[in-house]
Parts: sequence; structure tokens; C-alpha cells
Amino acid sequence: MKIAVYPGSFDPMTNGHLDVVARAAAVFDRVVFAVLVNPRKSEPIFPTDVRLAVIREAVDECCPADVAARIDVESFDGLTVEFCRTCGANFVVRGLRAISDFESELQMAHMNRKLDPEVDTVFFMSALEHSYLSSSLVKEIATFGGDVTQMVPAAVARRLAARIPSL
Ligand code: PNS
Repeated sequence: MKIAVYPGSFDPMTNGHLDVVARAAAVFDRVVFAVLVNPRKSEPIFPTDVRLAVIREAVDECCPADVAARIDVESFDGLTVEFCRTCGANFVVRGLRAISDFESELQMAHMNRKLDPEVDTVFFMSALEHSYLSSSLVKEIATFGGDVTQMVPAAVARRLAARIPSL
């Protein structure tokens, strides 16, 4: 059984993340959407439990049932490779939007492989229509009352609207 972990902050999840996880689920038997509990990142727009719930909702609403059934949503702290071990995963999935992502992703992939040679990283190129998206920009736009409904799954848009009354 080929298991992959898709780690990230996902604060909030975007349509780009949803696209990557759905494509990863076409390649792997099981994909674990892994939300990092990251005390270094101050002021998340959603606490971890809300991020987990919203990702689960989005996956169930947007993916066919047989695909959604193979996508788990969990949180983790500590090293990604350790979480991979816990899940029995030999693969990390990451999305690449542009050349600017490449350097840090290359470094992380090499570092993770150094930490655990059994864990390899598989990259999915972002779909062109999502290549400009980032969680931090979505967060900023939403915070200032801008319309992000084209950028995030409906489940995320609903939670943002509840969190930010001006939306
Ligand atoms: O969504 P992000 O913030 O780009 O995700 C970054 C993430 C969570 C993949 C990375 O920070 C990570 O793996 N953190 C866990 C700690 C760890 O394993 N650090 C070493 C990475 S080489």
C-alpha cells in the first residue's frame, strides 16, 4: 500500500491545495492531509481544530466519494518524517507553483531524505489557474474584506465569512 503525507500549514486551505491532494489521491492508495500545529506562526486565521474540520468538509464536498474515502485529515507537530513513520508513509507530497517555490522545496526534500532515506518527496505542479494562489494572500485579502470565493473551497469561504463579519 502506497501512503503519502501532504504536510502544510493550510491556514487556510486553498483551491490549489485541494487540486494537489485530489491528484495525489489518483497516484497513492492513501493520502494524509497533515496540518502542522505550528507555534512559530503567530495569529493563524483558524485554530488547528477548525482547519482540520474545514479541510475534511472541503474534501468530502469536492472530491468523488471513493477519492475522499482515501484522504485522511490529521494534525501533527514535530518533524514531517516522524509523522510519515507514524502513518507508514514513504512519500511526502508538495505542490510547486513557480520557480520561486523551487529552492525552499528542494532544500526541504533533500533534508527530509537525509533525515529519513525511506521518505521521498513527490511534487505536483500547481494547475495553471491556481498558480497565483497562496494561503497568506488569501488570508490578507479576506482580512480586509476582499472576495476570496474563487480562491478557496466553499467550506473555507463559509468559515471565513463566519470569522470575518465584513465578508
Ligand atoms: O504550508 P507550509 O507552511 O509551506 O508547510 C511547511 C511544512 C509544514 C511542510 C514544513 O515547515 C515542515 O515540514 N514542518 C515540520 C517540521 C519539519 O519537519 N521540519 C524540517 C523540514 S526539512
